[in-house]
Amino acid sequence: MKMLMKPPSILAITALLLWIVCISQSADEEEWLHDNIQGLSENDGFGPVVHPCFNTTKNQTVTTPEGQKILCLVPSEDDLVKDLEALGGFNRRYTAVTKEQVDMYFEDPFKTDSKPIEWESKFTGKRRRSIHENEERSASDETLERKKRSVSVGVQKCEKKATRTSENFYQLCDECWYITQLPPNKFPRYINEKICGTTGASLMDICAGNTGFCIQKEIIQDLLIQTNQYEKIPSPDPQYSVVYKQVWKPFSQKIRSCCQCQSFTP
Ligand SMILES: *[C@@H]1O[C@H](CO)[C@@H](O)[C@H](O)[C@H]1NC(C)=O
Ligand SMILES: *[C@@H]1O[C@H](CO)[C@@H](O)[C@H](O)[C@H]1NC(C)=O
Repeated sequence: MKMLMKPPSILAITALLLWIVCISQSADEEEWLHDNIQGLSENDGFGPVVHPCFNTTKNQTVTTPEGQKILCLVPSEDDLVKDLEALGGFNRRYTAVTKEQVDMYFEDPFKTDSKPIEWESKFTGKRRRSIHENEERSASDETLERKKRSVSVGVQKCEKKATRTSENFYQLCDECWYITQLPPNKFPRYINEKICGTTGASLMDICAGNTGFCIQKEIIQDLLIQTNQYEKIPSPDPQYSVVYKQVWKPFSQKIRSCCQCQSFTP
C-alpha cells in the first residue's frame, strides 16, 4: 500500500516544482516585456507604456489622458525618399515607391538585353529614356507595352525546369518573376524578385539528376522601416508646446534574385 502511495506524491511534488518554475519564468517574461515596451516609447510621463503618438499614420494632434494637446508628425513619401537618398539611394530596377514606378522600371528578370537607363533626376519622373537617341522610339514602344501589362503584384511569368533558356541552356529549377508588395511599415513597398517556383520555397524541388536541391538566393537592399519610437523635436508651431516625429530607420531587405540548383556531391 505504501509503495502504491509513493508515485502520486512524487508526481504532486514534481507538479508543484514545475509550477514554481513556471511562475518565476512568467514573472521574468513580464519584466522583459515591460522593459522592452518601455524601451520603445519615451517614458516622459504621458503614460507608462504606449506613446501618445503610437498608431498615428498622418500629421495630427493627439490629446493625452492628462488633457495635454501634442502634435504628432509622420514623414511624407518625399521625406522618406530624401532619407533613403541620404543612405545611398535604392536600385529602381528592384525597388519602387509607386505602381507607376513598377510599370516604368521593373524589368522582366528573364530578359538578358537590358540597356542602361537615363533616370529622370526628379524622383517622381514618369518617363524613362534610353541614353541613345536612335533607341528612343523602341524605348517608347516598350513603355506602351509596359502600360498594357498593367502590373499587379504576385507572379508575373515563369520558366519551368527543363525549358531552354535564352542562352540555349536548360533551366534546372522552376523560377518565377515575382513582384512583392511589402507591408505599410516599410518603405519603399514594391520589390522586383525572381523566386523558386511560385512560392519562393527552398528545398522543395530536386535537380541535377536528383543529386541536389533548388535553393532560393537573395540580394540585399537597405530600405526604411517604421519604428514605435518618436523623437521630440522643437515645435514648428507655437500652438503646440510638445511635438513628436515618428522615427523610421534603415533595415536590410532581402530581394530574392534567383533559384540555384545546389548538389550534395561536388
Ligand atoms: C493601434 O494599435 C493597436 C495595438 O495597440 C492595434 O490593435 C490597432 O489595430 C492599431 N490601429 C491602427 C489603426 O493601426
Ligand atoms: C508633416 O509635417 C511635417 C512638418 O511640417 C512635414 O515635414 C511632413 O512632410 C508632414 N507629413 C505629411 C505626411 O504630410
